[in-house]
Amino acid sequence: MTSQEIRSAFIQFFEQKQHQFVPSAPIVNKDDPTLMFINAGMNQFKDYFLGNKPAPYSRVANSQKCLRVSGKHNDLEEVGLDTYHHTMFEMLGNWSFGDYFKPEAIAWAWELLTEVYKLPKDRLYASVFGGDEQDGLGLDQEAYDYWKEIIDEDRILLGSKKDNFWEMGDTGPCGPCSEIHIDLRPQQEIDKKPGKELVNQDHPLVVEIWNLVFMQFNRQASGELHPLSAQHIDTGMGFERLAMAIQNKESNYDTDVFAPLIEQVSQRANVRYGDQEETDIAIRVIVDHIRAIAFTIADGQLPSNNKAGYVIRRILRRAVRYGYTFLGLKEPFLYQLVPTLSQQFADIFPELQRQQDFVGKVVQEEESSFLRTLEVGLRKLDQIKEEYQDEKEIPGAVAFELYDTFGFPFDLTALIARESGYSVDESGFKQEMEEQKSRSKAATSTDTGDWTVLLEEVETTFVGYDTLTSEAKIVKYRQVQEKKSSYYQLVLDKTPFYAEGGGQVGDTGALESANEQIFIFDTKKENNLIVHFTKKLPTNVETTFTCQVNSDKRKSTENNHSATHLLHAALRQVLGNHVQQRGSLVNDQLLRFDFSHFAKMTDEEIQQVEHLVNERVRENIHLEELRKIPIDEAKAMGAMALFGEKYGDEVRVIVFDQDYSVELCGGTHVPATGHLGFFKITSEGSVAAGIRRIEAITGRAAETYVREQDELLSTIKETLKSPRDLQKAVQALVEEKNQLQRQIDALQQEKASGIQQELASKTQTINDTSVIIEKVALPQADMLKQLSFNLKNQVDNLVMVIAANIQGKPQISVVIDEKLTKTHDLHAGQLVKQLAKHIKGGGGGQPFFATAGGKDVTGLEKVLEEADVLIKNTLGT
Ligand code: ALA
Repeated sequence: MTSQEIRSAFIQFFEQKQHQFVPSAPIVNKDDPTLMFINAGMNQFKDYFLGNKPAPYSRVANSQKCLRVSGKHNDLEEVGLDTYHHTMFEMLGNWSFGDYFKPEAIAWAWELLTEVYKLPKDRLYASVFGGDEQDGLGLDQEAYDYWKEIIDEDRILLGSKKDNFWEMGDTGPCGPCSEIHIDLRPQQEIDKKPGKELVNQDHPLVVEIWNLVFMQFNRQASGELHPLSAQHIDTGMGFERLAMAIQNKESNYDTDVFAPLIEQVSQRANVRYGDQEETDIAIRVIVDHIRAIAFTIADGQLPSNNKAGYVIRRILRRAVRYGYTFLGLKEPFLYQLVPTLSQQFADIFPELQRQQDFVGKVVQEEESSFLRTLEVGLRKLDQIKEEYQDEKEIPGAVAFELYDTFGFPFDLTALIARESGYSVDESGFKQEMEEQKSRSKAATSTDTGDWTVLLEEVETTFVGYDTLTSEAKIVKYRQVQEKKSSYYQLVLDKTPFYAEGGGQVGDTGALESANEQIFIFDTKKENNLIVHFTKKLPTNVETTFTCQVNSDKRKSTENNHSATHLLHAALRQVLGNHVQQRGSLVNDQLLRFDFSHFAKMTDEEIQQVEHLVNERVRENIHLEELRKIPIDEAKAMGAMALFGEKYGDEVRVIVFDQDYSVELCGGTHVPATGHLGFFKITSEGSVAAGIRRIEAITGRAAETYVREQDELLSTIKETLKSPRDLQKAVQALVEEKNQLQRQIDALQQEKASGIQQELASKTQTINDTSVIIEKVALPQADMLKQLSFNLKNQVDNLVMVIAANIQGKPQISVVIDEKLTKTHDLHAGQLVKQLAKHIKGGGGGQPFFATAGGKDVTGLEKVLEEADVLIKNTLGT
């Protein structure tokens, strides 16, 4: 079976068992603060397990793009070194939301593996949770008994919490699990040692392929387990490992999942995969990492310097570095793999193919810029080696600096150092690393308490699309302790407060009760919850409050949000349909809109866009808001979908004229475009490869902007004595300035030749050599060099030191006739270095000409004195 057939067989198998196939959620996680990237198929269903949201289907199957490179599940350092870990991998899964449980999950897994995939039964093992004292849980007898009906008891292994109790993160849904392992070793090895002894022992050919999780609990921040209101099934099968088992290979990388990429990299680097351990590892790192890089970028995360963006940047650098060091790939090469990858996954993850050019350009740009740093870093490393020539050991702190500023991983520094017989202090490096980690941890550490629940099982109703005030009760609250501040988070049964999302900032405002007022300083989403931030907990948390959103702020924000939609549509009209939103920020001051486009916008394009938007404003188009429509219907309307919404979502569509702007959006908007008043772009620039950013303002801010521009103009007019024609007056001013500049230049020229003649007349002749050692005052720095060369041409056999005072700054110039540099021990560069001490400065140059600048103008006399002694000595007087 090809890997595509394996994937399809999985989906079909579960479709036949009444499962609904759903597409992979985007690999980048947007509204869960506990998780940057999707790390398991179940992430997108977390709310169904916790009971926060009813599941639209009770049985679901899918193939999910996962990334395990941060947080609780992190495999990054293993990737490439071994043959069965990955950064990005596909997880095949089937789910039951309160429907079937252990018996079906176990029976179907067995049926699929042995009857559809025909994996040999005598090579399979199942593990079962053996219990955990600390959590007060016993052996999972139920699972054990079901397995016993299927396989021999000696193929059932008991596992500890570490292997057989699955948790998504430090908190959240969890439960005991049963893993299925397969032994792929040759028979003669099995005869020597039974597979049973190698399960979970990191053997590359005895690997876990499928994990069946029986979701029963919710782990609290306190560590306690709370039972879930229903029991669910969550399974995850490693697609690449399954392919290895079915295709009878010894490594995931030998399957057709990786073959096309390996082929391409080997050709490019001119090495054969399988020839050498070192190059094999590099190839594996590259073909693995490009998947993680390409899919995360396609799902909306660009490489950057913090959080998720930094993780991607590090993965990319790891790949570039392996290519550079072990495969000699010194030019960008990763981006060339993107088309291969996008073709390979066109069926199951079409989002990559749709954005292939964009993703390729971003990768290429990142690669080029890292390769540049890599080279600068290598030069820096050369200097370091010079500095530590005696010790032959590079201190840990220095290696750490290379890591921190140039992105040099320790092993790269160590490898390069080793090549020239140096070692690197590894423990010193580790210590620096630890210190930095604890520094950054201390800087960001937040301590979030458990929720205190006042109203059980109440879902929040959001009323903020229709009103800015409403009555509410607190459903639950908790305290959050940050390093410098502490605040409370409240969840209400009903709220008009908009939670930050889709680029729009969260609302602020107040909660009022009969006897107090509590300020809400921010509102954010946490999964499905709308969380209100406040510094003070109400004295009576059980009373009824009146919510009051700060309406000035909200309305200005709405202006800017609606303007963002009008802008998006205008950009597509003016620049073309390749324009796609790449990020936005909307607050009460301005809107910032990032979009894909490869060139700087011209002034005309900017004007056209402004004009189009302002026309729509003047048309006063009424808002058409469609709430809760199925995603397919929205797409049929031509709504622009951002970064793939999640399956099952009912979406909201915002329309300003069916033929102009139709967007999926959860934000709040003006009732009609006339509210914007006036739209003005204030800046346009680049933020990353292929991404432009526009900042713009509307309404009152635009009014203020225009007024300020007007005032500026008035001030300029006044300064110019209110001419009738301002433009002419400014032009005249510029012309006059140029005229004056030309006069100054001519005068300076005259002055310079005066100085030149004066210096020439002071030439002394010493043993057939013309010597000038003089001090001069010069009005401009660039005159010194000119003067030096002029004298060099004018006077034969010249040795000259000019100590110049240039507007209070000391400069020295040394000229030595080329012939003399050979016949005498005279070197302008060395001489100037020596003389520069007197002016507290430094400099250098060639044997026949050199200059130095300094800080102490009073030292110029000393320069002359020393120059006189030195030169006369050398010339033999
Ligand atoms: N959620 C389970 C896992 O990721 C299936 O292993």
